Amino acid sequence: MKPQDLHDFKDVAQNYDLYLDVMYKNEDNHSGFLDFYLDFARQYGKDGVIDIACGTGAVLLYLAENGIIADGTDLSEEMCRVADEKAKAKGFKLNIFPANMTEFRSEKKYSCAIIARSGFMHLTTPELQRAALLNIRENLVDSGMLTFNTFDPYPVFQTEQMNTKDTDYSFRLEYTNTQGSRERIYNAISYDPYTQIMSGNWKFETLDDFDGHVISERIRPLAMRQTYRQEMKYLLELTGYEIVNVYGGYNKESADHLAKNVIWCVRKNS
Ligand SMILES: C[S@@+](CC[C@H](N)C(=O)[O-])C[C@H]1O[C@@H](n2cnc3c(N)ncnc32)[C@H](O)[C@@H]1O
Repeated sequence: MKPQDLHDFKDVAQNYDLYLDVMYKNEDNHSGFLDFYLDFARQYGKDGVIDIACGTGAVLLYLAENGIIADGTDLSEEMCRVADEKAKAKGFKLNIFPANMTEFRSEKKYSCAIIARSGFMHLTTPELQRAALLNIRENLVDSGMLTFNTFDPYPVFQTEQMNTKDTDYSFRLEYTNTQGSRERIYNAISYDPYTQIMSGNWKFETLDDFDGHVISERIRPLAMRQTYRQEMKYLLELTGYEIVNVYGGYNKESADHLAKNVIWCVRKNS
């Protein structure tokens, strides 16, 4: 498949864990995510767990290391490949397959589905969100549980992004890539309030080992949709889910205020 989004690119998949480690040391709005998903899988996963948009398998492997063998799926073949290699290297035999969450069909149904760390936000239209929720519902047993997260749209941040072009790069971080070279990451993300889509580019600059000058650069596109909670509540109702819990973070913070990270825990209606 032709790469369309950041995670479809081989270089991004291969370096994903390395740069995410650095990113979340500086700006962590995912603190506690691994244990949140482990608890969720323990609580609801007795008839099988699937990690949808599993990426390079951060959650999948944490579950496996804690005794829960889950299936994993991701739109990006490259992300699936990295997750699969990591699983094999740790001695786990996991079923990881590339698929779009809007249309995959698994051979088995699950009592627990996880879309970790913003995978749902990559669905850039309400139609795709609806298709994914309906499709995941088909892959769940009756009363099966799903968790996913959204960011509450935040007007101050949106205004800033509305004034940003997709070439107005800001420095994000520096890390060392899989080849041992230093790389700097910049991104330029703009926001369209009409479509609620944040879109733009990530720029990866590879630096020379000796004097640090830029020897190459790669530009990778990214698009994510921001969703208001009221929209999400109706979407869930219309696609056949009951809201069980909404948290304002992975440590189960209250969600009764504008929250950076909103964690939805929903049950398939019979
Ligand atoms: C921000 S990453 C999160 C990955 C992983 N869940 C984690 O916690 O590290 C989002 C992932 O969503 C995947 N993705 C985007 N759109 C998708 C879709 N329609 N179906 C399945 N996966 C999708 C991307 O390929 C990417 O791996």
